[in-house]
Amino acid sequence: MNTQLKETSSQIKYWHPGMECCDEIWEAAYRRFETPEQEMKKFLKRFQKLGVDQWDPHQDVVELFCGQGTGLHVLEKMGFHSIEGVDLSPHLLEQYRGSAQLYVADCRDLKFEDHSRDVLIVQGGLHHLPALPTDLDQTLSEMHRVLRPGGHVVIVEPWRTPFLRFVHAVSEIKLFRKLWPKLDAFAIMTEQELTTYEQWLSRPEEILSLLHKYFQTEQQLVAYGKLMYVGRKI
Ligand SMILES: C[S@@+](CC[C@H](N)C(=O)[O-])C[C@H]1O[C@@H](n2cnc3c(N)ncnc32)[C@H](O)[C@@H]1O
Repeated sequence: MNTQLKETSSQIKYWHPGMECCDEIWEAAYRRFETPEQEMKKFLKRFQKLGVDQWDPHQDVVELFCGQGTGLHVLEKMGFHSIEGVDLSPHLLEQYRGSAQLYVADCRDLKFEDHSRDVLIVQGGLHHLPALPTDLDQTLSEMHRVLRPGGHVVIVEPWRTPFLRFVHAVSEIKLFRKLWPKLDAFAIMTEQELTTYEQWLSRPEEILSLLHKYFQTEQQLVAYGKLMYVGRKI
């Protein structure tokens, strides 16, 4: 494969020059929102709810839009040992300390070979895509191409539920943000990514119809401001 532009360590391969998603304000809010331990606990609970912890640990698993790699640590904890992470941000990937192979890459243009991986996971990445539905179609098409037949996708993204509407409404009130630091941190993070976040939340039918175009749905849960989706490539 002749796509490697630069390699800084054995763990990070560059398939793209890289692009930073988040400024210092976002990162500070992200750190205030929850501790790494709380985030790991949340991810573990999520994977257990979806049954991912029961899957064959010998499968080749990739977390797309993996950021600093908290999800990768949780996958490792669950016993998976062939783990890779993909993100556009070198800065976030450099913060990861673990055994997964990392790639700086654009998830709309993956360089993995066709039918080469068993499980592809996205947690909070698709709502960062700038152009809907085109970018989502392209990303899902890439995911479908890379998956082996019978392979799984796990997707967790924000979803406009009554709970999320309530949180947004409450976060408009300064006093509540002052009293509840986690709410303030959440509001700052969403303000920073407002354009793509709002675009994502406003197109649920299109998003679902694209997921159903590429994958056979095994689980589709909507609760507490999140869509949790497990699909299979047939
Ligand atoms: C909200 S963060 C989620 C990080 C991680 N999944 C988590 O839950 O902690 C979104 C991530 O998507 C990455 N990202 C945005 N657009 C991307 C793209 N086209 N390809 C790869 N990564 C992208 C950003 O760099 C950022 O790390």
